[in-house]
Amino acid sequence: MRPLFIRRARQLVTLAGGSAAPLVKEKMSNLGIIENGSVWIENGVIVAVGPDDELARRFADRFSEAEVIDAKGKTVTPGLIDPHTHLVYAGSREHEWTMRLHGATYMEIMNAGGGIHATTKATREASEEALYDESKRRLDQFLLHGVTTVEAKSGYGLSLEHEIKQLNVAKRLDDTHPVDVVSTFLGAHAVPPEWKHDPDGYVRLIIDEMIPEAARLGLAEFNDVFCERGVFTPEQARLILEAGKAHGLTPKIHADEIEPYGGAELAAEVGAISADHLLRASDEGIRRMADGGVIGVLLPGTAFFLMTKAADARRLIDAGVPVALATDCNPGSSPTVSLPLVMSLACLHMRMTPAEAIAAATINAAHAIGRAHLVGSLEPGKKADLVMFNVPNYVQIMYHYGVNHVETVIKGGEVVVK
Ligand code: NIG
Ligand code: FE
Repeated sequence: MRPLFIRRARQLVTLAGGSAAPLVKEKMSNLGIIENGSVWIENGVIVAVGPDDELARRFADRFSEAEVIDAKGKTVTPGLIDPHTHLVYAGSREHEWTMRLHGATYMEIMNAGGGIHATTKATREASEEALYDESKRRLDQFLLHGVTTVEAKSGYGLSLEHEIKQLNVAKRLDDTHPVDVVSTFLGAHAVPPEWKHDPDGYVRLIIDEMIPEAARLGLAEFNDVFCERGVFTPEQARLILEAGKAHGLTPKIHADEIEPYGGAELAAEVGAISADHLLRASDEGIRRMADGGVIGVLLPGTAFFLMTKAADARRLIDAGVPVALATDCNPGSSPTVSLPLVMSLACLHMRMTPAEAIAAATINAAHAIGRAHLVGSLEPGKKADLVMFNVPNYVQIMYHYGVNHVETVIKGGEVVVK
């Protein structure tokens, strides 16, 4: 493999120094920007990052070997990381969106057998092959929007067979697609119709059969629960998350999205790596998350698409919670793959600064999926995942909102989008 030399970026956004711990408070604005910056890459790994003249001197005798990418006038960042997606599913639910536009609520649709149940039906009926093809198309689109690592949850199978099918698809995508896919088991996404009469029986099935099998097959790293009134209670969530821990799965939680329900508190109690959504998290829950270093994964695209007020990012950041951003890509509450659009929404609807949004979609997102030692910043020794945006500064990535500014994507030292 030839060395790759990316030269003279108008802004090279490195996020250097953020690998040890997630960035909090004012540190979220430390983007480590190098003007006229360059990156030397060998064998898929970043070897050197710095001002162009410095690197040009250091590698002068090896220029002829290298493939050179001219980044003049452009902005280069670490590959974006999406730490919360429901990537693998079948079908689509635009008819429910239309119902919501006429006044129905998300929970009403779900309780009437639509919502997650509708996608579960479609996903159960899909063959593994069909599910792979459909999900691969989405993953291609993620890459085109500058995303080089995604977390992907199961949760539309809701039986041992179909949860494993979903996780298998995620694994195959990770093996075959340039984008890295990090898997989360989400058997506790909804109680399926056949267990409606006995939700605790379904919780036992998750604990006794699904978690052990997902862990045994090495198909998941994280274990998540949709903890919300009418879905799973904090008590059920605690049992499920502790059971996952016993099998080596790190807890995550969909917390306090629709009403304050103790999700943020539970995340701190069980030592979750992240608590996600958090629109209605209590002050006490936020304090405990900050104390426990639990990352708050915020999903302003979901609030936007559900036409609700977004999470209070400023309250979380001021309290010292490390904040990450994600699309929540799913067919019901956030059918998008555009993490850059979500970053614009984070600024517009949650008053995050553009600098905080960049940190939240790179290094803090990497921390939220346990990958900060590998990706999320541009530093020697890290995997060479980079995005070149055709804008002169990082603010414009978000300011010109709803436009895809990605020009080139480099994944593991290879040019995968050009
Ligand atoms: O994160 N909140 C729960 N799950 C998804 C929605 C899934 C769906 O509607 O299909 C979410 O928003
Ligand atoms: Fe979600």
